[in-house]
Amino acid sequence: MSELTVGETDFRTLLDGLLDGPLRSMSALERDIFRMRFDVHLPDALRPLTALYGGRADFADQLSRLLAVAASAYAARSPELRLLDLRRACEPDWFQQPTMIGYVCYADRFAGDLAGVRAKIPYLKELGVTYLHLMPLLEPRPGANDGGYAVMNYRRVNPALGAMEDLRELATALRREGISLCVDLVCNHTAEEHEWARRAVAGDPVYQDYYYLFPDRIMPDQYEMALPEVFPDFAPGNFTYLDSCDKWVWTTFNDYQWDLNYRNPAVLAEMLDIILFLANQGVDILRLDAVAFMWKRLKTDCQNQPEAHAILQIFRALTRMAAPGLIFKAEAIVSPDKLLPYLGLGAATHKECEIAYHNAFMVLLWSSLAERRAVLMTHALQNMPETPVNCAWLTYVRCHDDIGWAVRDEDAAAVGLSGFLHRAFLSDFYSGRFAGGFARGVTFQHNPKTGDRRISGTLASLAGLEAAVERRDWRETDLAVRRILLLHAMMLAFNGIPAIYMGDELGLLNDRRYLDDPDLADDNRWMHRPFMDWNKAEQRHDWQTVTARIFQAVRAMIGAVKGLPSLHAQARCHAVWTHNEQVFGMIRASARGRLLALANFSEAPQAVPRHRLHDMGFTGELADRLEGRPVDSWSDLRMEPYQVLWLEQLVSQ
Ligand code: GLC
Repeated sequence: MSELTVGETDFRTLLDGLLDGPLRSMSALERDIFRMRFDVHLPDALRPLTALYGGRADFADQLSRLLAVAASAYAARSPELRLLDLRRACEPDWFQQPTMIGYVCYADRFAGDLAGVRAKIPYLKELGVTYLHLMPLLEPRPGANDGGYAVMNYRRVNPALGAMEDLRELATALRREGISLCVDLVCNHTAEEHEWARRAVAGDPVYQDYYYLFPDRIMPDQYEMALPEVFPDFAPGNFTYLDSCDKWVWTTFNDYQWDLNYRNPAVLAEMLDIILFLANQGVDILRLDAVAFMWKRLKTDCQNQPEAHAILQIFRALTRMAAPGLIFKAEAIVSPDKLLPYLGLGAATHKECEIAYHNAFMVLLWSSLAERRAVLMTHALQNMPETPVNCAWLTYVRCHDDIGWAVRDEDAAAVGLSGFLHRAFLSDFYSGRFAGGFARGVTFQHNPKTGDRRISGTLASLAGLEAAVERRDWRETDLAVRRILLLHAMMLAFNGIPAIYMGDELGLLNDRRYLDDPDLADDNRWMHRPFMDWNKAEQRHDWQTVTARIFQAVRAMIGAVKGLPSLHAQARCHAVWTHNEQVFGMIRASARGRLLALANFSEAPQAVPRHRLHDMGFTGELADRLEGRPVDSWSDLRMEPYQVLWLEQLVSQ
């Protein structure tokens, strides 16, 4: 094997080895299917593999190890999942269809454990959910574990939630109900309690090479010169001293989260094996955590390096051979120009991740709400690169993390704002320090070096519901509900998979009980990771309650989205000027239809001039698909406070 050169004959030998090895007991047809996928996807794996490890003397052995991992996983895949692979090959846009509606929750906080989540499938179906993202559920380290993002065993479910069998059963039950399952894979780091880390500390050189370990501060100090800090408050710096072996280890996040060393191909093979193991449990989408950090380079911020993309491309190509029904969602909270490559660009088009979080859109929604103007959002979205057509954004308004004010200086300057001052305004506004503001959030990770102040808080509390309810101010309550609905309507109309964050469909407020738990108390992100309030959920059918108003409106919006082919993720999404600074507009356009979404970001009624509608090609009889009402375009369009319209033309002129 070790003489393998890049040449046709050698790959045939390699393939024959797999067919006679892990694939030996499969039927002729199943072996042919693997052969076909091998032919199609091998070049996509080879290109990035050569870029990363091509210079190694043992390159051929590394390659054959990876291919053996893929072939073994293919052989172990259940017939039901193999059928799903075929179905998805017949329907490659399955995750882009407007029927994909996401919901994100912690299994324990939502329903106790995995069996509990299964029992709540009827609730998810009532809301219209077809994609369920369960927050980290693999065995975490004991004690503080960053919400499960410090995994000590990737092949075991957190025992508090159940066993691997429960995960398999849940995945099967969800699939039969038309719900895809998304699970986190923390691929940038492990917990310090992971077996690999323990062996490294014990002095095993094989496992020491799984991490970035340094004998002294010489290299860490050099790296630090260009590195930012993710958690400056409770985990300053990027390296941690290990008393146990007198070394420094790379820890981008908390001191107990050790970054993996992907310069070592053994790490890549281990992670591929884990990816395919999870795919074979029935997971449909893997949320690949913190992917931007997967490769380190001196004198850089060690994010978004080309090699991090190469790793993802290798994962994808080899997954396509073994379990092509599985797709990847990149968690890369980076600026839009750095984000697009995670969806695959150039030679890697459609060869990296299928889904990525659209952090900028989320930030701009909150920014417009605070400002009561959509100018910055319109400009910034217009200047974003075009989204590749075979992908989908994960659109969201809130998630388990804080909100960092990722507003670019150049976008702010283009609309007459100072980026620095605007970010400071947003931090003040959402931490409740702005006179007359409606938000009830708190500051997360004040970084005095950069002035950054990120924000924690639930959607409802940030949108004003907490303050309004406390003051028993019904007008403010009404406005807060309208803001909550506006945000949901915008997330649903953008291109991609909208993900509702657990509790937002009921307007759950900040939950301060985390302060009583010493493992959670210093991380105020737990404030917006509440326990599901099932008593409140009961109120969703009682129309006199705020809960019902929010839940039923969100549910109705979801129903409307599912019937709108114009909202397919392949439709382009253009932000448009509406000739009214308070009203944001965007057009979704494709051969499937055109839809104009308008949102009034102010608490005053607004109008959009009819000539503007006509300019955008919306003339004659229009229909608002959100409310299911006709709208005429012969007069200026009047919009209620915080109203959203989803307009389609009924008859072309
Ligand atoms: C991701 C997660 C975040 C976690 C971090 C480290 O950014 O969303 O919650 O703290 O990764 O794993």
